[in-house]
Amino acid sequence: MRRQPVTRFVSRLHTQFRKKLALGHSLRELEPSLTAEELVFRAPPLTPELVDTIRLISPQFHLESGEEASRRFWELNQNGLCWGEYRALEPFLRELDPSKVLDIGPGLGRSTIFFKKKMGWQNVPFHLYESTGTSTKYTKAGPRFDDSFCGNLEVLRAILAFNEIENFEVFDAQSMGASLAELPGAYDFIYSFFAIGFHWSIGHFLDELLGLMNDRAIGFFTLHDRFTDFSELGDTPHRVVDFLGSWPRGRWSRLLVLAKNEEILRR
Ligand SMILES: C[S@@+](CC[C@H](N)C(=O)[O-])C[C@H]1O[C@@H](n2cnc3c(N)ncnc32)[C@H](O)[C@@H]1O
Repeated sequence: MRRQPVTRFVSRLHTQFRKKLALGHSLRELEPSLTAEELVFRAPPLTPELVDTIRLISPQFHLESGEEASRRFWELNQNGLCWGEYRALEPFLRELDPSKVLDIGPGLGRSTIFFKKKMGWQNVPFHLYESTGTSTKYTKAGPRFDDSFCGNLEVLRAILAFNEIENFEVFDAQSMGASLAELPGAYDFIYSFFAIGFHWSIGHFLDELLGLMNDRAIGFFTLHDRFTDFSELGDTPHRVVDFLGSWPRGRWSRLLVLAKNEEILRR
C-alpha cells in the first residue's frame, strides 16, 4: 500500500509526545518491516562530537551521547532507510556493475557503506562529495547555496573506518567552490539521498550532473514532496519510484531515477 495515513498520524503523535517529555526516541517510531532487515550499516558509540555532527545533518533527531538507546535508534534508522531505498531501486541496481561511483552529499556515509557491503562493491572506487560545515541551510526543493554543506569530513571518515570500508576518496566540496564540475568523472552510478533534489531543487544541478555521467550511467535522487515541476528536467529520461522510509514509520517518499539514455531505465 502506497500510503498509510493512520499509522503515520499515530507515529507522529507518539514522537511529539516523547519529545515533549524529553524521553528520547523509541524504536517503535521506526518502520518495523525495515528494522527487521539485516544490519549492514553499523553505528559506533555516540560521542559528543558524533551527536553534534548528526544534529547538524539531521536536526529532526534528538540523540544523547553515551546512550545505547540513542545509538541503536540511529543505527536502525540509518540501516532501515538504506533498505527502503534498496527495495525500491533493486530492479535498477541488479543490472549495475559500476567501475566508478559518486555519492553526492553523503552526510555520514550510510549509503556508501550499504551499497559497498550489500552489493559486494568493496573494490569499486567510490567518490564522496561533502564538506565540513557549521550551520544547516536546508530548503524544501528550493534554491541552491554555495555554503550549504553541514557535514564533517573527519567524522565521515571515522564512520567509514568503523564499517571497514575500503576504496573510497572524499572530495572536499568547499575547496572545489561547491561545484560538481571539477570532480573526476565520468561515473557509471551517481546518487544523492536527501540532498540534491530534496533540499535543493535538482534543476540547479542538472547540467553538472549530466556532465559527470557517462552514456550508460544511472542516477538516484530523493525528491522532496514539494518538488512538482518536472519541466526542470527538460527532456532528460527519468522515472519516479516510491519508497518506504524508516522514520517515522509508514512514511512513503519518492526517488527520481535519471539517465542519459532511455534504454537504461527500461527495467
Ligand atoms: C540530510 S543530509 C543527507 C545525508 C545522506 N545523503 C543521507 O541520506 O543520510 C544532506 C547532506 O547534503 C550535504 N550538502 C549540502 N549542500 C550540498 C550541495 N550543494 N551539494 C551536495 N550536497 C550538499 C550536506 O552537507 C548534508 O550532508
